Amino acid sequence: MALIALGVSGGIGAYKAVEVARGLQKRGHDVAAVLTSNACRFVGPLTFEAITRRPVITDQFAPGLNADIEHIALASSAAVLVVAPATANVIGKFANGIADDFLSSLYLATRAPVLLAPSMNTNMLEHGAVQANLAVLATRGVRFVEPGEGFLACGWQGKGRLAEPDAIVDAVERLLQPDRSWQGRAIVVTAGPTYEDLDPVRFIGNRSSGRMGFAIAAEAARRGASVTLIAGPTSLEPPVVGDLVRVRTAADMHAAVMARSREADVVIMAAAVADYAPARREAHKVEKQQAPLTVTLERTPDILAELGAERAARGGALPLLVGFAAETRDLLERAKAKRARKRVDLIVANDVSQPGAGFEVDTNIVTIVGPDGEEAQPKQAKAEVARVLLDRIDRMLAGLTRQP
Ligand code: PMT
Repeated sequence: MALIALGVSGGIGAYKAVEVARGLQKRGHDVAAVLTSNACRFVGPLTFEAITRRPVITDQFAPGLNADIEHIALASSAAVLVVAPATANVIGKFANGIADDFLSSLYLATRAPVLLAPSMNTNMLEHGAVQANLAVLATRGVRFVEPGEGFLACGWQGKGRLAEPDAIVDAVERLLQPDRSWQGRAIVVTAGPTYEDLDPVRFIGNRSSGRMGFAIAAEAARRGASVTLIAGPTSLEPPVVGDLVRVRTAADMHAAVMARSREADVVIMAAAVADYAPARREAHKVEKQQAPLTVTLERTPDILAELGAERAARGGALPLLVGFAAETRDLLERAKAKRARKRVDLIVANDVSQPGAGFEVDTNIVTIVGPDGEEAQPKQAKAEVARVLLDRIDRMLAGLTRQP
């Protein structure tokens, strides 16, 4: 049994939070409900008080509530902070460190795992500002229960409906029983783009944001693995991992990966590594001229292929090697060819021309190509792709042992 802080913010889904409270209680947990002032417009604090049998917190400075230190007390005693529904406003406050009421102060003060069940109008959910805030929170380790699709209270049809109370309760349960199944495993993950400099102010790069690799690193760390995250230049905040290595170029990434992979159990290359780099980096900014400019590009090392070749030369099965394939046509054919050519165990193929897949977005649509065929996945959050991928790797590792 644990004490769960249940935050409720001001959306129509607030009424379902009553069912979340009941569901948590049925599983034997104690629930401390925290309602924002807008939540109180949708559902009465008395309802939560009657169900939870505890005072409901609605005001940061309510007399008799230890006034301004109550959020610290709850912050240190709660095992999980779950917010259902989490509105765009609350998500924005959490992402930006704004603490102007009890719930947002509680979020900053607690070190307990945080689970958000977003709920809002489809356009609000898809807005770049909300997506950016969700991405920031995800990289800080906040977990989510995806909103459902269907008719929304505002009359629209689409994604944004609060997840079902049972799904939220199940997600809380999973957070309460942390998965340490990857403890003792060393994993190297690459993320983000590489930048190949032409001169001191220009580079050749690509659209990778680092989200996919960060989601994988976060999931591996959550499972207790010792994670080395090798990240190319990206403005996103990386997840907290044991070893974070920042690199810029394909050559830097090559050196960092090769130095750290020998002892790894798994190497997952989600980074979009440049295949070509300028043959020389000019010392000074190149001046424009009337004539066209010709830049000679040279091949960069194929890191994954080198890992595959090294492993084959050693004759071992580890590290288990996983690559991604970013394609815009003939997805499976090309992914299978890459898997064979680079001599890796799994290739995660994504058609980056599909909406909601590949670069920059929070979702991906992947097919995992392995020795025993392909496993197509639906469009889902990158955190979910990470979970599915690590589960697949887990099954493969179960049959392998390290060579002496
Ligand atoms: O970062 P996000 O915005 O979340 O976007 C995610 C993603 C689209 C970058 C990711 O899902 C993805 O597809 N990553 C691989 C992109 C890529 O470089 O694909 P590729 O088909 O060119 O390369 C195949 C594999 O070889 C990759 O694992 C790559 O890391 C590796 N490679 C490529 C070139 C090179 N010189 N060395 C390599 O090791």
